[in-house]
Amino acid sequence: MTDEVSLAPTAPRPVAPRVLALANQKGGVGKTTTAINLGTALAAIGESVLVVDLDPQGNASTGLGIDRRSRRVSTYDVLTGEVSLREAILETAVPRLHIAASTMDLSGLELELASQRDRAYRLRDAIRRLNLRDDSFQVRNNVEYSYVLIDCPPSLNLITVNAMAAANAILVPLQCEFFALEGLSQLLKTVEQVRSTLNPELSIHGIVLTMYDARNNLSAQVVEDVRQFMGEKVYETIIPRNVRVSEAPSYGKPVLLYDLKCVGSQAYLRLASEIIQRERALRAPAA
Ligand SMILES: Nc1ncnc2c1ncn2[C@@H]1O[C@H](COP(=O)(O)OP(=O)(O)O)[C@@H](O)[C@H]1O
Ligand SMILES: [Mg+2]
Repeated sequence: MTDEVSLAPTAPRPVAPRVLALANQKGGVGKTTTAINLGTALAAIGESVLVVDLDPQGNASTGLGIDRRSRRVSTYDVLTGEVSLREAILETAVPRLHIAASTMDLSGLELELASQRDRAYRLRDAIRRLNLRDDSFQVRNNVEYSYVLIDCPPSLNLITVNAMAAANAILVPLQCEFFALEGLSQLLKTVEQVRSTLNPELSIHGIVLTMYDARNNLSAQVVEDVRQFMGEKVYETIIPRNVRVSEAPSYGKPVLLYDLKCVGSQAYLRLASEIIQRERALRAPAA
């Protein structure tokens, strides 16, 4: 009798990466800082990570030491279909952490794609092709990523919709300040819309509270309010306000390379292990 299993191809199929989008339409809440430093922390723990910079400002690219001259091929070219995502990938100073950089060109993307039927799926399709065996660039750059982190612009525009359509889950940075919850329901509504139209698998991975200031009573109040409102979706790990975190990008370094011992670096390492734990729980067969 034929054993069906033995007829299966023996080469292991590439595993699709987990795709997490860092989204919040407010600026200055810690999306980019979290993309850089969570990416670095995941890579430090042994994951292979690709950061996709989708903000025309390009702060994630700059913060990871990619100067403007090195960005001849960018995420703009990927989304317009000129190049594959593989071709836009650059190495960083962190082992196992790569980036697809952005340029200001991205700010014109929405108008350029307006009449294209697949305009919301440009990034999803580019990521799907990333691990295909027949991708000729695989020969040169054959990393199989376990995580893709997408740094979104501060807006709920077509670029962010592309990120949400491509993602398995959304990670929402919230700054510990008075208006933290303002805008969150709008963001959740957008996630819901994307889930019902473009990406039925989409979920909220978690809310990460950033720039917590222990000397400020308001920070503690915000943590309480957000936990009340969002419950278990809020990660245990809270990222403290830490001057080392804000200094690091001017050296083109993640804070974990700039000062591994500082409280900011330690918090991002804890966040990375918490995220990996949540991932394991999601994948474990239901008891
Ligand atoms: N934990 C932190 N401690 C101190 N400064 C921070 C921290 N997180 C972010 N910042 C600073 O706050 C500003 C906004 O952060 P950023 O990550 O660029 O936000 P976003 O990408 O949401 O616009 C940046 O100047 C950044 O260096
Ligand atoms: Mg940003």
